[in-house]
Amino acid sequence: MNVLIGPSIAMPVVLSIIGQKGGVGKSTLARAIAVVAAQGNLRVKLLDLDIGQQTSVRWSTTRATSRALRTIDAEAFSSVADALKDTSGADLVVIDTPGHLSPETFEIARASDLIVLPTGTSSDDLHPTTLLLYELEQRGLSKDRLCVALCRILDAKEERWARHYLETTGYKPLTGSLPERLGYRRAHNRGRAITETSEASLNERANELMASVLRKILQHVRASNGVYSAH
Ligand SMILES: Nc1ncnc2c1ncn2[C@@H]1O[C@H](COP(=O)(O)OP(=O)(O)OP(=O)(O)O)[C@@H](O)[C@H]1O
Ligand SMILES: [Mg+2]
Repeated sequence: MNVLIGPSIAMPVVLSIIGQKGGVGKSTLARAIAVVAAQGNLRVKLLDLDIGQQTSVRWSTTRATSRALRTIDAEAFSSVADALKDTSGADLVVIDTPGHLSPETFEIARASDLIVLPTGTSSDDLHPTTLLLYELEQRGLSKDRLCVALCRILDAKEERWARHYLETTGYKPLTGSLPERLGYRRAHNRGRAITETSEASLNERANELMASVLRKILQHVRASNGVYSAH
């Protein structure tokens, strides 16, 4: 996967990952998006607003101990206002958020160009995801800024059902999905992203989902200022 945005976009694209539930894959996607964008030569800032857990920050520290891996700096902030105070020099700002909704979640969403919502595929997961999507729209966020990522998939049939469920509620999930696999967890333990596991098939699955996130970013850049090229 190769992405080029050049010479530089006027403002950084701000992408946040939010969700109503804990453990759905927010930090997983935040870290992977930061890695693939950096590998595509974007200047990336990974901001961790989950001040309690700081999953992305701790992962970044683990990652920094491996010479083989491209460094991804992550910084923790307690408010989105502070987090976005200095984003100069970045092409892409990725914001990881806490596992519960709060007024701050909507502030983060409003401050973001794109919002990724990871969700599981059971109706217990899809129902709150859909409610959150509706609420974001009601608060003025247009549908083209909202991206649903199907994560922690256990069964292809359930994934098909989840896609149908979301489409009937008016949302088309991103192409690609993330299966539930031990290899992803092991990668995280070693400071790696889900695109950097030791199993090619897992990396391929993760890369397909990441490619659709990158396409969204490029579409946004194209719509904003047209200064881009992609391969
Ligand atoms: N597809 C997957 N397969 C296996 N393990 C996964 C997968 N996605 C995430 N995990 C693991 O599940 C745990 C929770 O994932 P993650 O930290 O991304 O969730 P989160 O939404 O950020 O959680 P929180 O709401 O607590 O911040 C992590 O240990 C992560 O490595
Ligand atoms: Mg998290």
